[in-house]
Amino acid sequence: AATVYNTLSGEAPLVIAHRGASGHLPEHTLAAYELAIKMGAQVVEPDLQLTADGVLVAIHDATLTRTTNVAELFEPRNGGYLVSDFTLAEIKTLTALPTRTASTSYPDYTPSMADPFKVPTFQEVMDLVNAHNAATGAQIGIYPESKVPNNPVMNVQIVNEMKANGFDGSAPNSFLQTFSHEGARHLSELQAALGMTNGVAALGYVIKTDDVYGVYDATTAAISSLDELAGFVTGLGVNLGYDLDAGFIAAAHALGLVVHGWTFRPTTLEAAEAQFLPWIAAGMDGFFTDYPDLAVAVLDGL
Ligand code: G3P
Ligand code: CA
Repeated sequence: AATVYNTLSGEAPLVIAHRGASGHLPEHTLAAYELAIKMGAQVVEPDLQLTADGVLVAIHDATLTRTTNVAELFEPRNGGYLVSDFTLAEIKTLTALPTRTASTSYPDYTPSMADPFKVPTFQEVMDLVNAHNAATGAQIGIYPESKVPNNPVMNVQIVNEMKANGFDGSAPNSFLQTFSHEGARHLSELQAALGMTNGVAALGYVIKTDDVYGVYDATTAAISSLDELAGFVTGLGVNLGYDLDAGFIAAAHALGLVVHGWTFRPTTLEAAEAQFLPWIAAGMDGFFTDYPDLAVAVLDGL
C-alpha cells in the first residue's frame, strides 16, 4: 500500500540539506550543496551573512574562524575575523574546512566546479540550483536564513535576490527563515509586496506552558503563540529538543502551519530510522539534516 503521511500536504516530508550535505563535505560549500542534491535532497539551506562590501555569502557564523583557514592568511581585524570586516575578494582567497564528521572528499563524487571548497556567494548557490533544475527538470528549492535577522536592509537584499533568480514561489519548496519573529514578519511582508509566495518560517524553540504551545524567539527572548505566528508566517522551524512533540505539530497543522525540525544528525541508517521514524509518524513536514542520504534512505524504505 502507498505510504500515508501525516504532513500538512499529505506528501512525504521534505529533506532539507542543512548547510548542504555538511555531514560529509565542508559545510556551506558548492560541493556540499551539489552532493546534497545528488543524494536526493529537495531543498538546500544556505545561512547568509553580509561581507564588508555588501555581498550575501553562505556561511553560518558571524566569524570566519570555525569554517575557514582565515587565521592562517590574515591578521585579526577589530580583534577578530567577522565576515562583515572582510571583502568578498578577500573571503574568496580562503578555503572552507570540514567540520564535525565531514571530510574533503566523498566516495564516487567528483565536484563539477573547479574550486569546490570556497565560501560561495548566495548568487553562486542559486546559480548551482538553477543550473541543476534547468538540466534535469527537477525543482530543487532553497531555504535561505538571514543570520542577521534584525537587519532590514539585508532582508530586502535576500528577498530581491531570490526573486531575481526565480525563487519567487512559482515552484515549490523554497522558503525563507530567520530566528527573529519580527524579522520573519518583515520577510513575509517584503515577499508579499513583490508578489512572491515562498513560505516563511519563524525559527525557535518550542515551549509548552499550561498546555499551550509557544515558540521561543531567541532574538528577543519572547515567546510567540502559534496564533500570533500564524498571522504572518507559513511555517515553523523548530529545535528537536525542548517541548517539541506530536501535539505541537498537530496544533501547528490546525493553523495551517508546516513544521520543519532541526537538526537531524544520525550517522548510520539504524540511528536515522530511530530519529526520523517517530517524527514521520507525527507528521513533521520537513527535516533539516546534515545527512540527506540517510533521510532519503529512511523515506525510501517506507
Ligand atoms: O535554520 C534551521 C537551523 O539551521 C537553525 O540552526 O544554527 O544550524 O542555523 P543553525
Ligand atoms: Ca540555519
